[in-house]
Amino acid sequence: MGRTFRLIIHHPRFSPILDAAASTVIVRVILSYMAGVPQSDAPHRNSSKTFYLETFGCQMNVHDSEKVIGTLVHEGYRQVETVEEADLILYNTCSIRDKAEQKVFHRLADYKKLQAQGKKFGVLGCVAQQEGEKIFERAPHVSLVCGSASYRRLPEMLVQLENAHVAGALEAATLEAGIEARRLQAELEAGHRVEGKREVAKLVRITGLDDRQTDECFETEFTARTNPYRGYITIIEGCDKFCSYCVVPFTRGKERSRTSESVLAEARQMADLGYSEIQLLGQNVNSYKDPTSDLGKKKSFAELLAAVGEVPGIRRVRFTTSHPRDFGRDIVEAIDAVPTLCDHVHLPVQSGSTRVLDAMQRLYNREQYMQRIAWIKAAKRDISITTDIIVGFPGETETDFGETLSLLEEVGYDSVFTFKYSPRPNTPSLSLEDAIPDEEKARRLEVVMARQRELQITQYKKYIGANLEVMVEGYNEGRGQWVGRTSHNKTLNFTAGLGPKVGSFAVVRVTASFPNSLVGELVI
Ligand code: 5AD
Ligand code: SF4
Repeated sequence: MGRTFRLIIHHPRFSPILDAAASTVIVRVILSYMAGVPQSDAPHRNSSKTFYLETFGCQMNVHDSEKVIGTLVHEGYRQVETVEEADLILYNTCSIRDKAEQKVFHRLADYKKLQAQGKKFGVLGCVAQQEGEKIFERAPHVSLVCGSASYRRLPEMLVQLENAHVAGALEAATLEAGIEARRLQAELEAGHRVEGKREVAKLVRITGLDDRQTDECFETEFTARTNPYRGYITIIEGCDKFCSYCVVPFTRGKERSRTSESVLAEARQMADLGYSEIQLLGQNVNSYKDPTSDLGKKKSFAELLAAVGEVPGIRRVRFTTSHPRDFGRDIVEAIDAVPTLCDHVHLPVQSGSTRVLDAMQRLYNREQYMQRIAWIKAAKRDISITTDIIVGFPGETETDFGETLSLLEEVGYDSVFTFKYSPRPNTPSLSLEDAIPDEEKARRLEVVMARQRELQITQYKKYIGANLEVMVEGYNEGRGQWVGRTSHNKTLNFTAGLGPKVGSFAVVRVTASFPNSLVGELVI
């Protein structure tokens, strides 16, 4: 059924004839708003409100976007593939390094011209929280700025945005009608012309910038997961570690965990929907502290991990990211005891030098890190280890850098994510002296990557001849190969006579290796 409205105009400034002129403009605005589209092309467009969302950054952001999409769809919005089709354009942003932050401002500049078509822009995520209202100054066409700690308030912010849109359009229309009315009146009465139509842009500014005060997690039943087999569950949000280089404690708020019951209920629901792999997410998953008041039900992170792994229907469980300081032996024991827990631990070290780790305020030294590695290596299962490394932290000497290189050899990582240190706002390391020149950071980055590549060639060769179980992720037409993922989180491309189903599990014999992937043939 169509929506209806009645318009009564009480406006002492206009004569009845001129009120009618004003009404015409106002009615046009309301009708086009009710059609959910800008005034200019209202009759030609689909009637639902549309949005476009682009996500930058980490898995937490990817999953937040799934929740934001679910929330918007529940609020009556329809997701579209291009900015051109959208009424509302959203960017879920990352500010972990300067480059990531700049990307969003480039995007906003690229599409600014679309504001003239009545499109609204919103900035979500870490840049939103970090820059706050300053975004309105840098990009005045933005109407909504919302950090991740405020997503639970999105529905009310969307209503505000819509109401402001109507109010703004009405205000603009009333002014436009008023000007038009006065022009007509002037023409009638005095015969001389007054200024004609004027662009009246109403600046709508809505913010959700809850910061470290909030205790709440963004829990929603409307998560729009993009992959039907593998899905994320957030178990903990925020971070209290305050590593000296990192913006996350400022952008994602304080550490707060979901109850284990709520996490398990979501895992069971996903299993019922046919998901077979779950990835538990958090900035720092092993700082998980179950807020459940019932002591009998309270779980440690390792217990929660095991319990998720025991949910019927779940074949694989992963978790990321771990902080070495909170990484306990019980996690390795859980991996050994529960076959569905994947043989992979991502344990960011950041530097191999205790001196630099200290300056980074990482709360562990090289020896303690290596102790965690020893626990992992002592497991009954062959657990793959990956890490993050920052090169060029202020004051990092050649000796410190050499220690990072020697750590790579000592641990034997299966994969390393390497970053050049990027000074970030609000962080303690911003004020440190002895900045490393960018060319030197770039050189160190190259050296780490080249060394790790050599190590990985040896690392990956050892799987040749092994039979590994993969989850089938898709088919690569160009290469004529199926793409699978091992429990170790390695890509294993393989050939198969009869094509397996995407999302199913298959056993593949490894026949060759590359520095970043394996190749094989389907066994069963
Ligand atoms: N500069 C460079 N890399 C950073 N990371 C976090 N903050 C910075 C920064 N300011 C890296 C760390 C972290 C990963 C997600 O990003 O290695 O583990
Ligand atoms: Fe950032 Fe450190 Fe927290 Fe990780 S643990 S999110 S690096 S502050």
